[in-house]
Amino acid sequence: MSKGSSKHYAIGYDEEHERLERQARIGKIEDHLEKFSFSTDAVILDAGCGPGSMTRLLAKAAPDGRAVGVDVSEHYLDYARARAQSEGIENISFEKGDIFSLPFENDTFDLVWSKYVLQWVNNPVHAVEEFRRVTRPGGQIVCCNFDGFSVTHYPVDDSFQNDVERVFKHLVDPHVGRKMFSMFRSTGLKDIRIDFEPDATFTVAGAIDEERRRNWVDQLQAAFQSVAECLGSEQAARSFVDRFLEHHDREDTFTTCALYFVEGVVP
Ligand SMILES: C[S@@+](CC[C@H](N)C(=O)[O-])C[C@H]1O[C@@H](n2cnc3c(N)ncnc32)[C@H](O)[C@@H]1O
Repeated sequence: MSKGSSKHYAIGYDEEHERLERQARIGKIEDHLEKFSFSTDAVILDAGCGPGSMTRLLAKAAPDGRAVGVDVSEHYLDYARARAQSEGIENISFEKGDIFSLPFENDTFDLVWSKYVLQWVNNPVHAVEEFRRVTRPGGQIVCCNFDGFSVTHYPVDDSFQNDVERVFKHLVDPHVGRKMFSMFRSTGLKDIRIDFEPDATFTVAGAIDEERRRNWVDQLQAAFQSVAECLGSEQAARSFVDRFLEHHDREDTFTTCALYFVEGVVP
């Protein structure tokens, strides 16, 4: 039986695959490929692939191997398949699956990549255990995630900061980035390497630009009911969304978020 479970994916909505594609562009995900290396014949898993933006890049970077994207939602997978096909990528496939019980034999992959997923699950260490199970000895696991997601702002007033922390801790684990080293260690991975940089999507100095603002508007709209549940009413949620956007529109505010890349090798 699976040992982990997903939280409610509060930001899911019908067009989320398009938002995630836009977010991947804002986040310059092609630069992520410089953070780790793998051979051109590698067999790669993108766990929690969403629309498959990174799966496509991984497949192109391993032309003699292949990339497989897995997600719990068929909706993303339909889009991911169509998009890969329209780009003429042949060494790619997408399967429905849960990161806690992946539909693969032991030791299937040379590399498992997973971005922006572990914050959405309970007991993420069990997902890392499952990544290890499907990775061959000597293979790599690379998890990429934020730390400080939308909870680190300056200047802020206390009431705003309290609500921001309540809301984001209700939705996700905003500090999952710093916890990944410990998860990797307890899973028995070796040669653990950590790199981090500003998360290009969520770090904002001064007034937010139109693209990043739209990314927030879409996410907050999708998560509206969860925000209302957390703050006690729809009115409180509306006020929160307004204050959040006002904060990001100000010239004098800084929001910082780190993006961690944690890599480990299966012994
Ligand atoms: C924020 S999106 C990130 C998608 C993609 N990795 C990216 O960076 O654009 C999180 C994804 O994780 C998927 N997800 C959440 N829980 C999952 C689980 N238990 N197993 C597989 N996928 C899961 C969601 O369906 C969603 O597509």
